[in-house]
Amino acid sequence: MTGTVYLVGAGPGAADLLTLRAARLLGQADLILHDALVSDEVLALGIRARKLNVGKRANKPSTDQAFINRLLVRAAHRNKLVVRLKGGDPMLFGRAQEELDALNAAGIPVEIVPGISAVFAAAAEIAQSLTQRRLSRSVVFVTPAVARGDAADDGWASAAAAADTAVVYMGKAQAARVRDALIACGLPASRPAVLVESASFGSFVAGGTLGALEDIAAQAGDGPALLLIGEAFAEAAARHAHQTSEVSTARRA
Ligand SMILES: C[S@@+](CC[C@H](N)C(=O)[O-])C[C@H]1O[C@@H](n2cnc3c(N)ncnc32)[C@H](O)[C@@H]1O
Repeated sequence: MTGTVYLVGAGPGAADLLTLRAARLLGQADLILHDALVSDEVLALGIRARKLNVGKRANKPSTDQAFINRLLVRAAHRNKLVVRLKGGDPMLFGRAQEELDALNAAGIPVEIVPGISAVFAAAAEIAQSLTQRRLSRSVVFVTPAVARGDAADDGWASAAAAADTAVVYMGKAQAARVRDALIACGLPASRPAVLVESASFGSFVAGGTLGALEDIAAQAGDGPALLLIGEAFAEAAARHAHQTSEVSTARRA
């Protein structure tokens, strides 16, 4: 028997932000291999499936990617319907290509179901458009994070500095590096910056300027977070600039 593997986007967290197709597949799945960031309310839709967390979290022990690739191939030989569930959209910062390549090489049928990426939930949370007439005509998605064993470089920073709006994934823990790299690329320290944590499920927002990015990030908890940088966020940055460490301590308590 060879089943089908569906690479499914779990969206940013809230179950009602899943696509209808994703929800249907979760309900039909025999096996769900999911990322660490997938919320419990989304996983609860897999009513008949066995569930396996193969997630990676920064600075925590994680499942090796080559192992996940092999696991997917093996799972497809033992189950009719396998869902590989990834946070947000599977095709953005999710190592989807490596999994697709492994499945294709093994001749396993595979389909992709898009999801709402975290950035769209974050923009909704702060009610600020990523693009704005006269202010922002370009948006770039970047990350300073590299996989274990890969050399770090700052190529992402020049791309971010060249765009009107920069969205930094997996950047919270490296906020000082993000700040320094962007300022070194010519961005002013006064550029508005907003952090949105756990967008769509109990989110937290802090704002200010690029120069204060480290302080902004220090206010957040341990949920997944995005850094949004650009003039398009001036209003949200001002609205959330009053966040003090006491506010964030209260939130985390
Ligand atoms: C491995 S990347 C996966 C991104 C995902 N494929 C997407 O499209 O959103 C994980 C990073 O996405 C961001 N992220 C994911 N969910 C988030 C959420 N609900 N709120 C804010 N950021 C989130 C964080 O930067 C997190 O470290």
